[in-house]
Amino acid sequence: MSARDPAGSAGRSAAPRLWGGAFESEVDPVIDAYTRSLPFDHRLAAADLVGCLAHARMLFETGVIDPASSRAILKGLSSLLLRVEAGELEVGGGDEDVHTWIERQLTEEIGDAGRRLHTARSRNDQTAVALRLWQRSEVERAVTAAVGFAGALLEHARQHTGTALPGYTHMQRAQPTSLAQHLLAHAWSVLADAGRLRRAHRTAGLCPLGAGAMAGSPHRIDPRRSAQLLGMEAPYPNTMWAVADRDYAAEALFASALTMVHLSRWAEEVILWTSSEFGFARLQDRAAKGSSIMPQKKNPEPAEILRGKSGRAVGNLVSLLVTVKGLPLTYNSDLQEDKEALFDAFDTVGSSLRVARVLAESLEFDREAMAAALEGSYITATDLADQLAVAGVPFRSAHERTGAVVRAAQERGVELWQLPASELRTLVPEIEDTDALLAALHPEASLAAHGSYGGPAPERVAEQIELAASRLQEERRWLDERKPPPVYRAHLDGELLAEAIPGGAA
Ligand code: ARG
Repeated sequence: MSARDPAGSAGRSAAPRLWGGAFESEVDPVIDAYTRSLPFDHRLAAADLVGCLAHARMLFETGVIDPASSRAILKGLSSLLLRVEAGELEVGGGDEDVHTWIERQLTEEIGDAGRRLHTARSRNDQTAVALRLWQRSEVERAVTAAVGFAGALLEHARQHTGTALPGYTHMQRAQPTSLAQHLLAHAWSVLADAGRLRRAHRTAGLCPLGAGAMAGSPHRIDPRRSAQLLGMEAPYPNTMWAVADRDYAAEALFASALTMVHLSRWAEEVILWTSSEFGFARLQDRAAKGSSIMPQKKNPEPAEILRGKSGRAVGNLVSLLVTVKGLPLTYNSDLQEDKEALFDAFDTVGSSLRVARVLAESLEFDREAMAAALEGSYITATDLADQLAVAGVPFRSAHERTGAVVRAAQERGVELWQLPASELRTLVPEIEDTDALLAALHPEASLAAHGSYGGPAPERVAEQIELAASRLQEERRWLDERKPPPVYRAHLDGELLAEAIPGGAA
């Protein structure tokens, strides 16, 4: 075999490499299999083609590539993108990565003009732009799923502002709360998650195209125009940072890990509440699974699996941070490891948010079980201490005095609100209206009394629901405002070759 014959007898793959002019022999198959990224980065094909379209269009507009070649390239890329999106063209085979695959497909399709596309570009800026574009559309999908879950929680909350149940601290019954208040606490978490995911959308909006391998280009390119064609906010201000930076991915991984941690806490409560021990809710059959041996069982398996998946979400974040730590500038092949973590993170957070929503929608609450759980634990003792404080007793003393009242109720085996008025009057002489005091020790009265801002009193919760609904609206508006990149719209409209593609950030 000739040293200059890459497809010679030692060549295992039919796919030509992008390099090899200076290599004397083929890469060992073991090394080849280990270093290729096509088996996973095929998922970037559509995003990469969009990045290619923007690059090609910029090269055309700046005159870096002649009009005839540019036309052929743009047409070829557009046709590839149509077929990839329609699933007519399988992205796979022996190529090193998705970028190599695209260049080979293009050149096979349009001939030698395809060999000009890589002018003023490297796979280092190419892969970076594709991953950013991919992340941006995945964030949109994840925010959509987050909005769905938060909306389901809000729906339940509207029905249950007056449904009382114990709130827990240290996993012990603490004070009365409402089901609406409890569910809204989860809704606020997921709304905050949506906000963090959106931040990762913004961070991914710096465009690395034109950074080349790391030093930009001697050609008269226009990185601002590339960014504009992709609907990204701006080009990177530094070509070395452009190809070395993975902060946007780290932010997305953090946002998705934290979302998964929140969903795990939600899942844990679904599991507890649907247990026989709590019995606060039942899961409809569509959201439960059975046991292969115990016919009576209905297991909250989706919630358990959701809780379990939070581990890998945190792992994905750690994986990228450790990969990037200690890397010298600029691009190093270690960075190829960014992709699977990010892919898995978005697969996990998207499907989990959708599952969390189905779990929420299929919960049937048992008001009586919740009400029963408000008894037997002197859950309004703090209300008595607060009443004493209102009557002028320092809270610390009121706390001690209430302890004595709790003991009296325990000795009689009654609830605080069932104590004989005469006994309560002796124990708490500072409060004249004993009947009113007894009434105030009912859980519903406690709920109504906790009307401080953000508290569980039904009218506060009603205000809170409005606030959460308008936050949800903000997320929906943001989603409505998302537009595909200008170059992608031009591709869909068949106007890639038209005089002007309107720019402007999406
Ligand atoms: N497959 C590579 C990645 O995912 C693309 C960039 C490779 N650049 C290079 N010079 N090998 O990061």
